[in-house]
Amino acid sequence: MRRLPPSMLLIVAALTYHVLARQIPFLETSPDSPEAHATGFQLRHVFDHGSGTNANLHLRLDVPASHVFATGDSKFYLSSVSQNVTRLSQRDPDFMESYLAYTSRPNAIKTTDFDWIHERIRTPNISDPDTLATLARMTSDAYVAVPESNDWVDVGVPFNESGGFGWDSNGVRGHVFTDDGNQTVVVAIKGTSAYLFDSDGDTRVNDKINDNLLFSCCCARISYMWTTVCDCYQKSYTCSQTCLEGALYAEDKYYRALLDIYRNTTSLYPNSTIWLTGHSLGGSMAALLGRTYGLPTVAFEAPPERLAAQRLHLPFPPVPANESTIWHFGNTADPIFMGICNGASSACWVGGFAMETQCHSGLECVYDTVHDKKWHVSVSSHRISAVIDMITSYNTTATCVERSDCQDCFDWNFV
Ligand SMILES: *[C@@H]1O[C@H](CO)[C@@H](O)[C@H](O)[C@H]1NC(C)=O
Ligand SMILES: *[C@@H]1O[C@H](CO)[C@@H](O)[C@H](O)[C@H]1NC(C)=O
Ligand SMILES: *[C@@H]1O[C@H](CO)[C@@H](O)[C@H](O)[C@H]1NC(C)=O
Ligand SMILES: *[C@@H]1O[C@H](CO)[C@@H](O)[C@H](O)[C@H]1NC(C)=O
Ligand SMILES: *[C@@H]1O[C@H](CO)[C@@H](O)[C@H](O)[C@H]1NC(C)=O
Ligand SMILES: *[C@@H]1O[C@H](CO)[C@@H](O)[C@H](O)[C@H]1NC(C)=O
Ligand SMILES: *[C@@H]1O[C@H](CO)[C@@H](O)[C@H](O)[C@H]1NC(C)=O
Ligand SMILES: *[C@@H]1O[C@H](CO)[C@@H](O)[C@H](O)[C@H]1NC(C)=O
Repeated sequence: MRRLPPSMLLIVAALTYHVLARQIPFLETSPDSPEAHATGFQLRHVFDHGSGTNANLHLRLDVPASHVFATGDSKFYLSSVSQNVTRLSQRDPDFMESYLAYTSRPNAIKTTDFDWIHERIRTPNISDPDTLATLARMTSDAYVAVPESNDWVDVGVPFNESGGFGWDSNGVRGHVFTDDGNQTVVVAIKGTSAYLFDSDGDTRVNDKINDNLLFSCCCARISYMWTTVCDCYQKSYTCSQTCLEGALYAEDKYYRALLDIYRNTTSLYPNSTIWLTGHSLGGSMAALLGRTYGLPTVAFEAPPERLAAQRLHLPFPPVPANESTIWHFGNTADPIFMGICNGASSACWVGGFAMETQCHSGLECVYDTVHDKKWHVSVSSHRISAVIDMITSYNTTATCVERSDCQDCFDWNFV
């Protein structure tokens, strides 16, 4: 585990006392033209970062240029727009990971005052139905194994692979697509509560643990009959906040594996603009990583992750939410996205998933399929295949708004 150097402690402490009223500078950086263009993306690599007992596993698969997905796609075309964003001026993985390790400690001084900059960057054109549907297809392809693959390359400390390793491993996977000039890199994050929500999957045990950690009020402590995923429950509707914060940042949990995916991607593409996408748990994780590093993120049908972002003390830029570059696309017939897949008779609770949160961070872009298409509220409306069909059946994309009236876990005391 990377420890916070003493000098960094001082920086973090100093940030706390920084004067709040400060002009945020505008940085004119973009080396390439930020003007609209559509370019072809190809899958280049798959990163696999272990979790649970495999937390030290860091692998990369390089994908041959000849790779064609089962869907027939080999190149994906995305249109982009130029947008002003506000994000941390210091976004180096060493700095961010030091900050996160520090702030997850019980007695850390929590800071909300960071050094921000305005920048103009390219973001995906989320008004474009084709671009949105293509991002959903790239996300969908992230569920699929790459059959004609080369060997996995070990990018971490040497790992004893005698247990056998392949597509069956537990962990978080990032499918890395780049455009022709490597100007933009799209990382599709995989990780889904697959067996309940979408066909069959290979990371189910750890997915469930991470779902219950990220989207429950207190370690999935619903009643004495539930298996908890951390030990933060104290007594009736009372939960330890510092305990929760430490649990989310634990080395064997998905958030840390996500940070590794970012570190390894930027080490290959240090000068590229990085966009994130993902579906379901993968969408929530993409949003958490996007918030950590200020990256444009398009999430599909993601369970609400704002509470997790707050517990991790991720940076929330001091700008109106409508300038956010985290877009949560979903539909009203999906109970998981809508935050209503809870209660004793819901499919989630029956499956052992404590999906209690209600609030997404960033913007919500909701297709009203219940009204427009007469879809029934059901977990089958959560599937990525349903989402792709949905996007292509509308001739405009959903409007993105902030849901400011949202509150999570209001009946709990966090002490
Ligand atoms: C971005 O900000 C710069 C500097 O504040 C401003 O000149 C420009 O018009 C803004 N662009 C957009 C697209 O808002
Ligand atoms: C974004 O997409 C919309 C819808 O397709 C299109 O009208 C608009 O021109 C696009 N913006 C840019 C900058 O390409
Ligand atoms: C790898 O693990 C296996 C069993 O888990 C063990 O028998 C073997 O000695 C290990 N190899 C190394 C190089 O540590
Ligand atoms: C893009 O990156 C790949 C490495 O993943 C490299 O092989 C290729 O030459 C790069 N292309 C350009 C145009 O820089
Ligand atoms: C990939 O990430 C792992 C975990 O953070 C790190 O140990 C390793 O050095 C990274 N490798 C590269 C090439 O960035
Ligand atoms: C990134 O940019 C730096 C500075 O312009 C350059 O030295 C380096 O070669 C670039 N790296 C890649 C992978 O393009
Ligand atoms: C965001 O909302 C504010 C008012 O709340 C408005 O002034 C501003 O123009 C909006 N910005 C965008 C990008 O829609
Ligand atoms: C969108 O599609 C509907 C039918 O599905 C059609 O009536 C309408 O004119 C279309 N709107 C636009 C702007 O193309």
